[in-house]
Amino acid sequence: MRLAAEIAGVTFPSCIINASGPLCTTFEELKALGHSASGAIVTKSMTKEARAGNPEPRYYEFPQGSLNSMGLPNLGYQKYAEFIPRLKEFGKPIIASVAGMNGHEYEEIAGYISSKGPDLIEINLSCPNIIGKPQLGYDWEASEAVLKTVRPLVSQPLGVKLPPYFDPIHQEVMAGVLKRARIDFVVVINSVGNALIIDPDTEQVVIRPKDGFGGLGGACIKPVALANVRAFYQLLSEEMPIIGVGGIVSGVDAFEHLLAGASAVAVGTAFAKEGLGIFQRLGEELGQLLKQKGYSSAQGVIGKLRVMDD
Ligand code: SIN
Repeated sequence: MRLAAEIAGVTFPSCIINASGPLCTTFEELKALGHSASGAIVTKSMTKEARAGNPEPRYYEFPQGSLNSMGLPNLGYQKYAEFIPRLKEFGKPIIASVAGMNGHEYEEIAGYISSKGPDLIEINLSCPNIIGKPQLGYDWEASEAVLKTVRPLVSQPLGVKLPPYFDPIHQEVMAGVLKRARIDFVVVINSVGNALIIDPDTEQVVIRPKDGFGGLGGACIKPVALANVRAFYQLLSEEMPIIGVGGIVSGVDAFEHLLAGASAVAVGTAFAKEGLGIFQRLGEELGQLLKQKGYSSAQGVIGKLRVMDD
């Protein structure tokens, strides 16, 4: 079964990749992704300075998903600039994920990291866990300003990782921003920000940062993820491929993302839970499902979702 994907002219050997999130921070973790069946190596979102992230406990797993307030722990962009050329040996696309604390930092990091030759660059506008900083993806003007300044500094396909939106007008406005900034691909969705889980036994929150508020991920957010993939596919399909993220635990989940309009899918919570073997398992499950259904490739499924007649 052909599981390859194409994103903005770059071929991925498999359409199933890691999300910028868990287990992609250190060189050892990135190398392990290189050895795995992930179709790409996606880095943790890199900031200007190295960050230890938010105080622990900052990650909580439950049967339907996860709540995290990691706070972008990462080694700082200079380290990823060293790592990227060394990861080329794996022969699969490298996506450098970039997160600034302000517009100047996005420019500085994206411009420099571009010169180190990742295959694609993702601008993360949607981390909900930086204390005192709102998610840029909910501020149209600030998003457009950042993307328009970064665009000419980057020679690779440039993508944007967005938060979930809950009303069509918001997706329409953001689609306009992405078109005007000449963005090449879209990654939707980041975690559902500022969710709260309460332990009724202890009568307490389950993570320390932000008094317990954090980003919700995993199986429970799949319907929100699918809705955003579908909405952006309807708005942008001709111009920008989509990497779907949110709730992918099985090959069926990946199939649903492809049907909604994703060209590739990225796995976060389930990767953190299951480890590197998940890429092989999901590939096998998706391959079997496509075969049963008579598809000859993952690409043949993209956007094929059927709606009901009136
Ligand atoms: C985090 O490090 O807080 C999660 C990453 C993100 O939400 O972009």
